[in-house]
Amino acid sequence: MAGAGALRAIRWALVDHRGGPNVTSVQTGRVTPTAGPPQPVRARRKEALVSTAPIDPTGVPAWAGLREHAEQLEPDLRGWFAEDPGRAEELTLTAGDLHADLSKNLITSTTVNLLTELAEGVGLPERIAAMFRGDRINVTEDRAVLHTALRRPAGMQPALQIDDQDVNADVHHTLEQMYDFADQVRTGRWRGVTGKPVATVVNIGIGGSDLGPAMAYSALAPYVADGIEVRFLSNIDPADVAETTADLDPETTLFIVASKTFGTIETLTNARMARQWLWDELSARGQLASNNRARNRAVAKHFVAVSTALDRVAEFGIDTDNTFGFWDWVGGRYSVDSAVGLSLAIAIGPGNFADFLAGFHTIDEHFRTTELSRNLPVLMGLLNVWYVNFLGAESHAVLPYSQSLHRFPAYLQQLTMESNGKSLRWDGTPVTTATGEVFWGEPGTNGQHAFYQLIHQGTRLIPADFIAVATPAHPWQEGDVDVHSLFLANFFAQTKALAFGKTAEEVRAEGTDEAVVPARVFPGNRPTTSIMAPVLSPGVLGQLICLYEHITFTQGVIWGIDSFDQWGVELGKDLATQIEPAVNGDEEVLADQDASTRSLIRYYREHRL
Ligand code: F6P
Repeated sequence: MAGAGALRAIRWALVDHRGGPNVTSVQTGRVTPTAGPPQPVRARRKEALVSTAPIDPTGVPAWAGLREHAEQLEPDLRGWFAEDPGRAEELTLTAGDLHADLSKNLITSTTVNLLTELAEGVGLPERIAAMFRGDRINVTEDRAVLHTALRRPAGMQPALQIDDQDVNADVHHTLEQMYDFADQVRTGRWRGVTGKPVATVVNIGIGGSDLGPAMAYSALAPYVADGIEVRFLSNIDPADVAETTADLDPETTLFIVASKTFGTIETLTNARMARQWLWDELSARGQLASNNRARNRAVAKHFVAVSTALDRVAEFGIDTDNTFGFWDWVGGRYSVDSAVGLSLAIAIGPGNFADFLAGFHTIDEHFRTTELSRNLPVLMGLLNVWYVNFLGAESHAVLPYSQSLHRFPAYLQQLTMESNGKSLRWDGTPVTTATGEVFWGEPGTNGQHAFYQLIHQGTRLIPADFIAVATPAHPWQEGDVDVHSLFLANFFAQTKALAFGKTAEEVRAEGTDEAVVPARVFPGNRPTTSIMAPVLSPGVLGQLICLYEHITFTQGVIWGIDSFDQWGVELGKDLATQIEPAVNGDEEVLADQDASTRSLIRYYREHRL
């Protein structure tokens, strides 16, 4: 049995954090919702809102049941496994190629039953259907949410029609355009202004227009064609553009400017700097005449765009024939499988990109059609709700035991926190529970040597997802040792240590000096979910990303959140524009600032060399 200390630690978490401090904060006004007061809704939207107003989860009978259940729960993974030899099997689910073991979570069959009742009670099945149907469930932006349509196979029935748009036809038309362009670049048919083929693609974008392709490019490195390198330029820090272009050959570089809105200051600034770099470098080599025609020709051969805003692309000077479109019903953080994935399609090729999309579709179908109690994204989303709302967890670790997935936690941070970091519900009323836990992580085993101490023996409850594949991209044998097996031994060991801990008796039995016995006790009952797949193929990566998209959706539905807007990022953007003149010496604008901001800007101005 786990030590008494372990149980006490978990009980402490139950008592001290349950109930969602954010709720109180919102209700007492101590946390100001970033989106401001509820916006008036237009007539048609209002109608939709009335018929689909969020159901307060705390009013669903299962909520009270879960609360009582949490109060009575004595987490005891050692005992639960001992009593029920079928636990691992019962709590292991498969979805596509994903094998997910949920058995090391702090749950019993009662927990699962109550959680699925909660999901039924808030109408999760109807919300899932509404999303796939293309209902305008992104109410604050009055948009459908149809990233699932991006991976619908050609000709899938029933046809999907939004307003006047034949969604399937448009999606596949753009895919063909992307695949054709990717082939041209890969085979060297696409040539730069001096006639050379492309060797380096630089994706310029930020947020959803960067994190998805950047993460997938490193995850799928073994599938990248020889002779093509992709770099990602996102930060407006000039160090990023300087370092990204430092050793580049302008003759063989292709820039993809990816921006859904084509209005993002970081991306447009970087794109302008990259354009200037191209012109300067070509001129310095005597390969560019100093007239607008020559410059435009260079841009046409070295810049393409991905956007929903064709007019702004044209204004920037990129030929709209070299623009790959998508639609307002694709959110930025849900767009890696749209034309935003163009750099990836070039790198891994159309066939692999199609497999990537098929992976998403497999999980879409699982999510859409599987009963709640065996539905992997639903159950993982509900587990997150269980930990946040009933056991007081405030963060969630994602720990890939795959170096290829080293950018996966960063990708998930935008997906999860930009989606569910909200304190208003989709009808503009305050949320009634804590929402949006912090997602973070690093690849194992690096994390083991950094922050696992806190997960094993700290006072916080941190549910963790461990992710690994059976067959490595780079098998390596060191003498008798298969190094990937050694690596994964750590995965299995860590999830075991977190679940079952080490009692004082076990520590003593090793002959440990009594004075340090307490320090060597591991409380256990630290929840983990283990996700495995055969190999990190494009299809498996698509499945993995899609799994987390739908986990995020599930949580949002339980909390009544519009997981597809992101008003909370706007204020900072506006203020940066307003403040910028002060930073550059405008005394009047400086005088308008608060004392702290004024003094910081002064410090900057005094110290800037
Ligand atoms: O500021 C946040 C955000 O709007 C994200 O949601 C989005 O992914 C990112 O900026 C980039 O936006 P865009 O693709 O329009 O440049």
